[in-house]
Amino acid sequence: MNILLLGSGGREHALAWKISQSPLCRQLYIAPGNGGTGQCGTNVNIGVNDFAALEQFVQEKAIDLVLVGPEDPLVHGVYDYFTAKGIAVIGPSKEAAQLEGSKAFSKKFMQRQGIPTAAYAEFTAENYEAGQAYLAQHSLPIVLKADGLAAGKGVVICTTHEEARDVFADMILNRQFGEASSRVVVEQFLSGIEISVFVLTDGKDYKIIGHAKDYKRIGEGDTGLNTGGMGCVSPVPFADAAFMQKVEDRIIRPTIGGLYAEGLVYKGFVFFGLINVGGEPYVIEYNCRMGDPETEVVMPRLKTDLVEMFVQLNKGELHAVQVDIDHRAAATVMAVSGGYPGDYEKGKAMTLPAALPANVMLFHAGTRLDDTGALLTNGGRVITATALAPTIQEAAASAKAVVEQVQFEGRYYRRDIGYEFE
Ligand code: AMP
Ligand code: GLY
Repeated sequence: MNILLLGSGGREHALAWKISQSPLCRQLYIAPGNGGTGQCGTNVNIGVNDFAALEQFVQEKAIDLVLVGPEDPLVHGVYDYFTAKGIAVIGPSKEAAQLEGSKAFSKKFMQRQGIPTAAYAEFTAENYEAGQAYLAQHSLPIVLKADGLAAGKGVVICTTHEEARDVFADMILNRQFGEASSRVVVEQFLSGIEISVFVLTDGKDYKIIGHAKDYKRIGEGDTGLNTGGMGCVSPVPFADAAFMQKVEDRIIRPTIGGLYAEGLVYKGFVFFGLINVGGEPYVIEYNCRMGDPETEVVMPRLKTDLVEMFVQLNKGELHAVQVDIDHRAAATVMAVSGGYPGDYEKGKAMTLPAALPANVMLFHAGTRLDDTGALLTNGGRVITATALAPTIQEAAASAKAVVEQVQFEGRYYRRDIGYEFE
């Protein structure tokens, strides 16, 4: 079949890499793609939210399946747009994508389905004073979340009541995150280690395709500003069979069952952002897509043909698929532009290692090729090396050794990915 993949990050390069290995994939196109995705298929210069131009391309190239990488087009209804025209899409409907697109929607859904998550309340300008009163008596720290999509920046953890009061005012009155913060979710703080679990669903059945731990802070030892993700490891040692059974029984099954029971159409990836609180899993957030850089460790470990999974999903027979995951550990280490996650420059010349060890893959994120075919940086997160090895430590060491050989001005990476799993 002919597949169109939407997106341009490391996640999309890893998905393209995986899809291109399937005998079921005839042509793979990536819109818009990056400086690496062209190794796995054909880049097409169309934006992920330009549905009309994408549709024309889909007709022209007889695309059978559209796979959506990032959340934005999903929350804007790309699923509904293409399925209405008879083109299969891997992703949730616009309505179901609110699991990611609205924190208030997802909290209400979890409450209805009895899924463990932090206690919360939601406020807008209408009940602003009640919100301030609620905050004043709330135990510390207090978690404030902009309801809508805020490019990963809409969550503030406040350690004093004064800070909470000011952030709340900024979000609601000053629209700090635009329309996204006109509604604010105030949440109880949960203390524990985070883990992301990934599921593919046809809306009825589901398959767990992997899990990972993301390193979100810019600095070593988990210090400094939050980023999109500086690296990942998989598997996560504390996610043993007993823990994963709780995740499945208390979270995954009620989520998929709840979507079905409530008529929320969902045929795609579910990203469960979880926290392990003393051995008990709670949902921090849902995302309606794969994670980045989680995909860069999940795809290399997934042995099952992903395109075969999509075929079965579209037939409503996902249950028939046997998922096979590599027993080896994977680690990915992201090279970022100097200054990221603050201001940084793009367009720096890049040099990649001439050859890679057999157990290492390079996934491009913010890169592009110029007219002469030279590779340039084109974003904050630039490129990531993923290694497979018997242990997390060995995988991280191999990935690091390759990132060290990736050269561009201002390159930075965390040397401690997987540090706590010695
Ligand atoms: P989110 O965008 O909902 O994933 O939140 C971003 C990050 O904020 C999460 O990855 C957590 O590290 C943190 N966070 C969110 N909600 C909570 C919570 N209730 N308790 C503790 N940390 C949280
Ligand atoms: N790495 C976190 C995310 O993709 O949302």
